[in-house]
Amino acid sequence: MKYKIGFIGAGNMAKAIIKGLLNASIVTENEILASASSQSSIDQIKASLQIQTTLDNTQIAKECEYVILAVKPYMVETILGEICESFSSDQVVISIAAGVTLDQLTNWTHQKLRIYRAMPNTPANVNAGMTSLCTDVSKADPSYAYVISLFEAIGKCEVIKESLIHAAIAIHGSSPAYVYMMIEAMGDAGVLLGLPRGQAYKMAAQSIYGAALMALETGLHPGVLKDQVTSPGGTTIEAVASLEKTGFRSDLIEAMVTCASKSVQMSAKK
Ligand SMILES: NC(=O)c1ccc[n+]([C@@H]2O[C@H](COP(=O)([O-])OP(=O)(O)OC[C@H]3O[C@@H](n4cnc5c(N)ncnc54)[C@H](OP(=O)(O)O)[C@@H]3O)[C@@H](O)[C@H]2O)c1
Repeated sequence: MKYKIGFIGAGNMAKAIIKGLLNASIVTENEILASASSQSSIDQIKASLQIQTTLDNTQIAKECEYVILAVKPYMVETILGEICESFSSDQVVISIAAGVTLDQLTNWTHQKLRIYRAMPNTPANVNAGMTSLCTDVSKADPSYAYVISLFEAIGKCEVIKESLIHAAIAIHGSSPAYVYMMIEAMGDAGVLLGLPRGQAYKMAAQSIYGAALMALETGLHPGVLKDQVTSPGGTTIEAVASLEKTGFRSDLIEAMVTCASKSVQMSAKK
């Protein structure tokens, strides 16, 4: 095959993944081919990431060993219908389209390809993404380790049962939005307390980043890490008690359950 990885769709998520893969040096610009529907989109991605581009999705199907479907979910069936004849059996298809199932992908490709369904998130841009991966491909297949290594190059990757994908969407597909809301709110509070806005956002973002890194690297229970910050009669326990009073934890749980339910509803509609 002429290219290692092809992207059908060159929007936000494709750009985040490509940027992460290039940052990690797992592939070079010349090994990536990406398509979009408009000349302006491919001009833009070529200018920013120096990868190869095309307006022809069948070129991706013919020339790329790993084909990543990064278009909106409602387009996947049509595009696979247009290109499925161009695939050969040694290729691998990875869909990142929310709500599109492994069964649908298998039916729409009309042949026996190795198929993966992935749920990444936008922090892939800075190699701090989180991807959940579902597949029926055997662990012994060489593509299995390679696909995991692609997503590990742009952050962390966990293989999950497909039935848990709605939980994955709530916990890491959509969650960057809730964390940005938290950074914004903490920044506003900092401004209210007299800090310049730029410094307030930096302090908020860095403290969330540091706390997340501590949780990942120590492996300690989040409650233990929280207790390490809260001295008896001190300032932090005042904030913790206030957050408990206003339902911080139950709000988050409720929001994520709602998010997962929406994902279930959207899948059922297809
Ligand atoms: N954004 C996220 O945080 C996130 C997280 C996880 C999964 N996802 C999934 O990632 C997928 C892409 O989302 P996105 O946010 O990256 O969308 P997006 O920014 O709207 O990008 C969609 C891309 O598809 C291209 N496209 C449209 N029609 C096409 C066609 N016929 N052939 C080839 N390319 C075509 C568009 O090109 P033009 O602009 O030229 O039309 C655009 O480059 C979705 O399925 C979504 O569910 C997104």
